[in-house]
Amino acid sequence: MTASVLDGKALSRTIREEVKQETARLQELGIQPGLAVVLVGEDPASQVYVNSKHKACLELGFYSEVHRLPNDTTQEQLLGLVDQLNQQGTIHGILVQLPLPKHIDEKAVIDAISVEKDVDGFHPISVGNMVIGDESLLPCTPAGMMEMLKRNRIPIEGKHAVVIGRSNIVGKPISLLLQRENATVTMCHSRTNNMRELTRMADILVVAIGKAHFVDRSFIKPGAVVIDVGMNRLENGKLVGDVNFDDVVEECSWITPVPGGVGPMTITMLMVNTLKAAKRVHQ
Ligand code: GUN
Repeated sequence: MTASVLDGKALSRTIREEVKQETARLQELGIQPGLAVVLVGEDPASQVYVNSKHKACLELGFYSEVHRLPNDTTQEQLLGLVDQLNQQGTIHGILVQLPLPKHIDEKAVIDAISVEKDVDGFHPISVGNMVIGDESLLPCTPAGMMEMLKRNRIPIEGKHAVVIGRSNIVGKPISLLLQRENATVTMCHSRTNNMRELTRMADILVVAIGKAHFVDRSFIKPGAVVIDVGMNRLENGKLVGDVNFDDVVEECSWITPVPGGVGPMTITMLMVNTLKAAKRVHQ
């Protein structure tokens, strides 16, 4: 068996086209979705992400504000800006790019973002609503993974999903979203004993552990769906996932590549969340 590739780039294009069309319809009603992205400091990777978010906004017809603040910005100054954006009518989504410089308390900043504008889905109230199954803006990377499964009509109900990694941004939320779609979910992490015994029972395997090529074919149940959230830069500069793609591709039924799998979906889901937030305000 050779797996079919879950193409995140192509799906991103399709969803962005849908968002663009809906944005054009909203604009006829005088509504323009607006996103504010805040970057503190000069982390090179963060700068690339922030520029991509700004570009995506412009392509889709959103209003976009990027606030680039110096590394020595105080927590008070940052909280002041968040407060201003919370009140600004042209802004429907606020994203403070992480990580923040060490002297700033990330939690205090996330907590200060208005829940209605929390397009990252990181605010404790957003997380709580997600746990309960109430309406909320979902974190972008897990939401993107669910969209990839659903739009490729990959069955989730009744399946055994195994998630490797328990981060707040990926592992924990994806396990909840899979459970919500009636999967049976097992979570593994760095301290799990006999991880292979568990992953070899997985119909759906999500890998978000941050270690290059951690998963090889010995982890895979034949026919499994493998979703790789890893983005690891090798010494030779090559970008690879947490899964050894070439080793497992013949064992599984579906697999996400790196790059071009989950990655492109993240910013697309940020755009989807911003559109949702804008529609809600003007309902
Ligand atoms: N840094 C890396 N990924 C993310 C993300 O999804 N949201 C924010 N706010 N910062 C990030």
